[in-house]
Amino acid sequence: MPATSRPTWWPRTLTTRRLLLRPVEPGDVPAHSRLWTDAEVRRHLGGPVDAEVVRAREPLCVGAQGLLSAVRRADGRVVGSVLVEPDARDGRTEVSYQLLPEHWGHGYAREAVTAVADWVEVAVPGRDLVAVTQEANTRSRRLLEGLGAVLVDRFVEFGSPQVLYRLPPPAR
Ligand SMILES: CC(C)(COP(=O)(O)OP(=O)(O)OC[C@H]1O[C@@H](n2cnc3c(N)ncnc32)[C@H](O)[C@@H]1OP(=O)(O)O)[C@@H](O)C(=O)NCCC(=O)NCCS
Repeated sequence: MPATSRPTWWPRTLTTRRLLLRPVEPGDVPAHSRLWTDAEVRRHLGGPVDAEVVRAREPLCVGAQGLLSAVRRADGRVVGSVLVEPDARDGRTEVSYQLLPEHWGHGYAREAVTAVADWVEVAVPGRDLVAVTQEANTRSRRLLEGLGAVLVDRFVEFGSPQVLYRLPPPAR
């Protein structure tokens, strides 16, 4: 039997004050489908994903490497997701995050990204942790800057100006 190719950093479950961050379970799929199709969520992410692509993604997201459902511990509802991708950007680890709109403004993304950044620093060591967001995405930029992230690059991707932030170890 060949050794498993599963990386040592995955799967992982993290617990924060209000959230459980864990691999995607079958019951989470409707919430993830909404994250891909909601116009508000997708405003700075290239717009809603096509229905056909959503159907193809739905079974694949269950247990997908690096994709965490953010579940509110108080009631078990999926409020959003966080994706961790080692080697995504020139060997750097990228974190991306999204919440369903009714859960914006409660600090859940800050709580989730903080926990993920702390974990990644230990689990995937020796690589910068970065986040890329559209220049126009003020909520996302406020989140990153509030976490002490530093803007280190600007470029155009998918036809939109993007900003790349590095989350420095002292701020994690
Ligand atoms: C980016 C995104 C996750 C930010 O969500 P958010 O809820 O604004 O982010 P935070 O978790 O940092 O919450 C901050 C807000 O919660 C408020 N808040 C309430 N309770 C809080 C608490 N206990 N701790 C921290 N903040 C709290 C803050 O005052 C702030 O409010 P404000 O928006 O009125 O200034 C969200 O807008 C989103 O999902 N966007 C779509 C996806 C996307 O564009 N992702 C980015 C690219 S990867």
